[in-house]
Amino acid sequence: MKDRHHIVEAAGLLQREKLAAFPTETVYGLGGNALSDHAVALIYETKGRPNFNPLIVHVPSLEEAKRYAIFNDEAQQLAKNFWPGALTLVLPRRKDCALSLLVSAGLDTVAVRVPAHPVAQALLKEAGFPIAAPSANKSGRISPTEAAHVRAEFGDALYIIDGGACEVGIESTVVDVSEGTPVILRPGSITKEQIEKIIGTITLAGKESSIKSPGMMDRHYAPSKPLRLDATDIKPGEALLAFGAEIPGAQIVQNLSPAGDLREAAANLFRMLRLLDSSDAKSIAVMPIPKEGLGVALNDRLGRAAKI
Ligand code: TXA
Ligand code: MG
Repeated sequence: MKDRHHIVEAAGLLQREKLAAFPTETVYGLGGNALSDHAVALIYETKGRPNFNPLIVHVPSLEEAKRYAIFNDEAQQLAKNFWPGALTLVLPRRKDCALSLLVSAGLDTVAVRVPAHPVAQALLKEAGFPIAAPSANKSGRISPTEAAHVRAEFGDALYIIDGGACEVGIESTVVDVSEGTPVILRPGSITKEQIEKIIGTITLAGKESSIKSPGMMDRHYAPSKPLRLDATDIKPGEALLAFGAEIPGAQIVQNLSPAGDLREAAANLFRMLRLLDSSDAKSIAVMPIPKEGLGVALNDRLGRAAKI
C-alpha cells in the first residue's frame, strides 16, 4: 500500500495513547486506542464532546468484535451481511470486555463497527487493538469527508492519514440490537429497507430515544449559518443547496446531485454544507429531498443542522 508509512506512523501514535485521524468509507474518524481510558478521554477532550455521548469502536473483523460484545441471532445476521461496511451495532458488553469503560460512557452496551476502507483496515491491523473513533469534527459540527476538513477543525497538531474523499460521505447507520426488538438509533448510509431484508420490520427511534442514544442530540452537524429546509424559492441573501433541477435566482449554489441521485447527494452533503457555510451568503436554502431510502438519513442530518 502506497501510504504504508502513514499507517505505521499513525499506529505508533495510537500505541502511545495519542490520537490520529483516518479515513473510513463513511467519514473521517478521530481515532484513539479503545482499550485505553486515557486515549478515550483525550478524544472527548479534543472533540469537546459531552462525556455522556459514547463512541464507536472499530475492529477489523466480526471475530474481533466477538471478543468484546455479545451477538444474538439478529446481530450476527446483520454483521454477516453488512460488515465490513457502514453499519454500527449497539451490543451488550461482555463481562470480560477489555474495552475502556469511558468508551461506553457508562452504558453496559458498546457500539461496534468493522469499516470497509482499506486504510482503516490497514490501520486496525497495524495497531493490533480496537480503535475508538467518532467523526473527526468538533462536537456538534459538520462531519469531515476530506482530510482538509479535519485539518480545518483541529489544525496541524493532529496527525491525519489522507485517504482522499470518503466514498459514502454520511455516517454509518446505528442499530441497537442489545435488547428486545432491534431499533435504528441513527439513520445512515445503510437504509431501513436494506436492514429489513435481513431481519424483518425495524423501527426508527423517535425523539424519546435521545437519552438512550445520546448522540442523537437535537442540534448536530451544525453550520454557523441558518438553514431553511424544503425551500421552493430563494430569498435575498440566501445560498442554495440544490437537489435535482435548481430553483433559479441564487447567486451561490451547490448541487447535491443534479440528476437527483440520493447516493451522490449523501457523498456530497457535508462538503457542500461546508462550502456554503464559508460563502458570503447570509443563510442557506435547502431544496426538498425525498424522504425514502438514503433520503431518510439526509433529511435527518439536514433537520439537525437547521435547529437553532
Ligand atoms: O460512520 C461512522 O459511524 C463514523 C466513522 C468514523 O466510523 N463515526 C461516527 O461516530 O459517526 P460518532 O461518535 O460521531 O457517532 C456515534 C453514534 C452517536 O450517535 C452515539 O450516540 C451512538 O453512535 N452510540 C455510540 N455508542 C452507543 C451506545 N452504547 N448506545 C447507543 N448509542 C451509541
Ligand atoms: Mg459525529
